[in-house]
Amino acid sequence: EQINKGHYEHYMQKEIHEQPESLTTTMRGRLIRRGSSKSKSVLLGGLKDHLKTIRRSRRIVFIGCGTSYNAALAARPILEELSGVPVTMEIASDLLDREGPIYREDTAVFVSQSGETADTLLALQYALDNGALCVGITNTVGSAIARNTHCGVHINAGAEIGVASTKAYTSQIVVMAMLALAIGGDTISNQARREAIVDGLYDLPNKVREVLELDQEMKDLANLLIAEQSLLVFGRGYNYATALEGALKVKEVALMHSEGILAGEMKHGPLALVDENLPIVVIATHDACFSKQQSVIQQLHARRGRLIVMCSKGDAASVCPGESCRAIEVPQVVDCLQPVINVVPLQLLAYHLTVLRGFNVDQPRNLAKSVTTQ
Ligand code: G6P
Repeated sequence: EQINKGHYEHYMQKEIHEQPESLTTTMRGRLIRRGSSKSKSVLLGGLKDHLKTIRRSRRIVFIGCGTSYNAALAARPILEELSGVPVTMEIASDLLDREGPIYREDTAVFVSQSGETADTLLALQYALDNGALCVGITNTVGSAIARNTHCGVHINAGAEIGVASTKAYTSQIVVMAMLALAIGGDTISNQARREAIVDGLYDLPNKVREVLELDQEMKDLANLLIAEQSLLVFGRGYNYATALEGALKVKEVALMHSEGILAGEMKHGPLALVDENLPIVVIATHDACFSKQQSVIQQLHARRGRLIVMCSKGDAASVCPGESCRAIEVPQVVDCLQPVINVVPLQLLAYHLTVLRGFNVDQPRNLAKSVTTQ
């Protein structure tokens, strides 16, 4: 496969900007309207013989490392809501360290862009030995994880060259949202919800195109933050994972300390760090957690926190508590797909920070695209 940077300067930049196309490819042939009622659903060919077993599992456990783990965390709420099965998360190395329980009645889902990460592969062997049904979600056809799982879904995001994962992350979330729809099955009670999600999936590439227009704004913000030592990112609910993933991008490529924080834990430690110098991104787009995030913003403002608020379009004036607060307005989509939108400005911020600070974008210091040794 001939891969080049086209008119972009770096692969990471190219991969961020091609997300409308990579998401389209991820969904191609998988979203369906069927029957006379035109009811909307999804078709994941690689799972069709196993859906019954997955639905009957005692639990579904998602296993991955780095960005792939964060993607599973982003999809967890919708998986829990639609599947009706308990959903747990495991970082592969931690599962191995603890020799955590995996049972025959479990479905273990292995999420990995490369399909070759050593810890995820060892966790797969462990789950196979324990008799679980093993499902792979990878971007690499023929990879070890694709070959050794019982069934799976390819995310079809196209080759990802930049060490920091961007387009694979958003495609992984979309595949897991489709997985939630597939496991959930059609019931009258959740029909409206399912249709809203399928409609949201259809429209997602356009919304990602829209959020990419924030590129210059994120470059300006990067200019402001260029000399900072640290950046905190507060999120919760659907966007707890966005906080972790945004902070991971900043850390891994811009080489700036950054921490994703569950906003519900603010009072249990992080609040002590707040002063007028430390920049804090608070994700406060519209969903069931919105009013709680408004209260977090007020509390940070009361302690003179230096706030950057990510909010839904049109909300800046009402959500920002003071003149010094900066807003990032993003398009609103159905709550469970909002993490796909919200991560994009943070990817752009990490990218621009890296370029401005003069670091290597595509090959960050000490990191590898695929970690094939323990
Ligand atoms: C490395 C990469 C990350 C990636 C992680 C997991 O740390 O630098 O971008 O998220 O491995 O890789 P995988 O291929 O399993 O998704």
